[in-house]
Parts: sequence; structure tokens; C-alpha cells
Amino acid sequence: MSELFGFGVGHSTQSRAGKTLEVYFPAPVKHPSGAAQRVIREHVSVGVSSLSPASAAKLAGNLIDAGAADAARGCSLLAEIDKPLTALVLENDEAIRSTAEAYFKLQLLSHRLSLPNTLNLEGIFAQLPNVAWTSEGAIGVDEIEAALISARRTGRQLTVHCLDKFPRMTDYVIPTGVRIADASRIRLGAYLGEGTTVMHEGFVNFNAGAIGPNMVEGRISQGVIVGEHTDLGGSSSTMGTLSGGGNIKVSIGRYCLIGANAGTGISLGDRCTIEAGLYITSGTVVDVIDEDGNRVRTAKARELSGLSDMLFIRNSRTSKVECRTNRAAIKLNEQLHAHN
Ligand SMILES: CC(C)(COP(=O)(O)OP(=O)(O)OC[C@H]1O[C@@H](n2cnc3c(N)ncnc32)[C@H](O)[C@@H]1OP(=O)(O)O)[C@@H](O)C(=O)NCCC(=O)NCCS
Repeated sequence: MSELFGFGVGHSTQSRAGKTLEVYFPAPVKHPSGAAQRVIREHVSVGVSSLSPASAAKLAGNLIDAGAADAARGCSLLAEIDKPLTALVLENDEAIRSTAEAYFKLQLLSHRLSLPNTLNLEGIFAQLPNVAWTSEGAIGVDEIEAALISARRTGRQLTVHCLDKFPRMTDYVIPTGVRIADASRIRLGAYLGEGTTVMHEGFVNFNAGAIGPNMVEGRISQGVIVGEHTDLGGSSSTMGTLSGGGNIKVSIGRYCLIGANAGTGISLGDRCTIEAGLYITSGTVVDVIDEDGNRVRTAKARELSGLSDMLFIRNSRTSKVECRTNRAAIKLNEQLHAHN
């Protein structure tokens, strides 16, 4: 029998019309152990199914008896909730066919069980309903007006935080060792590595993230991954691929600095800097300058994509975009390595 890709026990919210709006998997499991797989296959069918609290408690007991306490955690945590739960068993990482699968994969990413761009997220938008995220949880957008009126009738204040397909990450996953100044800026499905700080201007989309440690005061678009010790300056931007951003998947290496209000549509290797306010797109024409300040060649920025030790500035005397050797970062890096 083939190895299972994923297993989770979750608690879902249904709309009045019975549509699944969201599913919380407190402890999703990727590639369950052999012992866990045997118990899961025996008690739960492949795909999405309903699990009574009693069955969840029994499943947790069987998993623990089989020595698979990790896989039992989700069942144990939710077994106290006196409502039917959602069980999900995935044999393979295939295109997403249900809301539960979409939420499961987003939680794998935020739990750091999968890196951005490593999961099959095809079909995710079709399977995520647009939801009113309120002070009383998820409500279907077509049911929110009735809910607002009903709240007033009973003297309650119902606040709508946003209307979106993706909820805030922190309502589902609290990664260790991170600081998040404004939780509404991090969507579920973001990957925030240990030691990452996201300030108020920072934003991290789903299937995107920072390996950590990082200082994020700019936007990390869908599909973008930022390496260790890289700083994104205030309101800086990394170009995504979703809306007219082209098809280059941007990745940023280690020890880079994207200056305030700067941005990039090309990948950067390690120790690169982009001057504050300068946006490099893949077609930006760049003069490559040598150590003596002479122009070596003129290139489209895409030809430099992924290279290390680059310093991009817009020369304020000539208005030309230049790529110099990032001496400052190299020096800093030499110092850091000297203390390894
Ligand atoms: C591009 C940048 C890194 C250059 O900084 P630097 O390496 O310290 O360089 P300096 O400002 O000391 O300038 C060195 C020389 O280059 C010149 N220079 C710098 N930027 C220039 C530009 N855009 N055009 C022409 N000359 C420039 C300086 O005038 C100086 O000339 P000099 O040697 O004749 O005096 C810096 O300007 C920058 O944008 N940093 C980003 C900081 C940031 O946004 N952080 C995030 C905060 S939220």
C-alpha cells in the first residue's frame, strides 16, 4: 500500500446552507509514520469524512496505543468539542478538490511542515469560499447581512474584520519565535521561520514566506521566499506572479536588503542590496559597473536574476540604473564569518 501524504482531524464552520466555510486543523500531519498509517487506514476512509467526538477519542486512543502520539494530537485536542469533526486523509499531494484540503495545505505551510512552492495548490481558489471573518467567527458572505441584524436584535456588536478567501494566520497557527505587529497582514498559508519579525507595513501572502531570522517591513507576495538574515525595508515589494506580475518566481537569498519603497521582480542571490525607492523589474535596463566605476556591459535585469553580491542603485547624476558590486555587504559578511 502506498504511503499516505497527509492526515488531519479538524473542526469546521458550516454556513446555514450547509457549506463548509473553513476548517481548523490544530495538528496536521504530513507523511504519517507507518504505525499511524495502519491505524488511520483501518478507522478513517480516504478523502474528507465526518468523525463523531466518540470516534475521534477512540481513534486518538488507537493511535497512542500504536505508538503514534504525534498523529493522535489533533484528535485529542478536538475530542472535547461536542460536535462532529472533519477527518481528512490524503494519499497523494494532488490538486485541491475540497475546502478541507485547501485549509489542510495552508496549515501545513504555516506549521512549517512544507516550504512555499513545494505543495500542489492547483484549484485552491475554487475551493475557498469568500467568507466574512467576524468577531463571532466565519460567516458566509451571503449570510452576513442577516447576521448583523440578528446581532443588533439581541444587543450584540458583530464586527466584520474582512471579507476574504483567506483568514488571518494567527487565528489558526501561532509559530514559535516570531513577532507579528499586525496579525491582519499575515494570511493563513504564510511560512514564518523562527526569528522572523513582521512589522506593521509588512505583509506575507499564502505560499510565501521568510526562512528566518528576518525583518519584514515590506510585502512578500505569493510564491516568494526570502532567505535567512534578509531585511525587507519599509513598504518594499517583491513581485508576485498572480496579477500581471509575469511568470518569474522571485526568491531572495540570504543577507540581502531591499531598501524602503524599493522592489524587485527578479530573484536575488546572497548579499544583494536594492537602493531605497528603486524598483527593479525583469526588463529594467541595467549598466553593470566594475570596481573602478567603469561600465562593463548593459543588461536586462532578468539576465542578472539570482546572482549574488549585487548593489542596485539609480544613479542620481545620470538617472541610469546601475548594478555595482555590493562591497558593504561583502565586508559585513566577511566580518560575520570571521566570528563563526
Ligand atoms: C543604496 C545604499 C545602500 C547606498 O548606501 P551606501 O553604500 O552607504 O552608500 P553611501 O550613501 O555612503 O554613498 C557612497 C557614495 O555613492 C554615492 N551615491 C549613493 N547613492 C547614489 C545614487 N543613487 N546616485 C549617485 N550616487 C550615489 C554617494 O553620494 C557617495 O558618494 P561619495 O563617495 O562621493 O561621497 C543606500 O542609499 C540605501 O538606499 N540603503 C537602503 C536603506 C533602507 O532603505 N533601509 C530600510 C529602512 S526601513
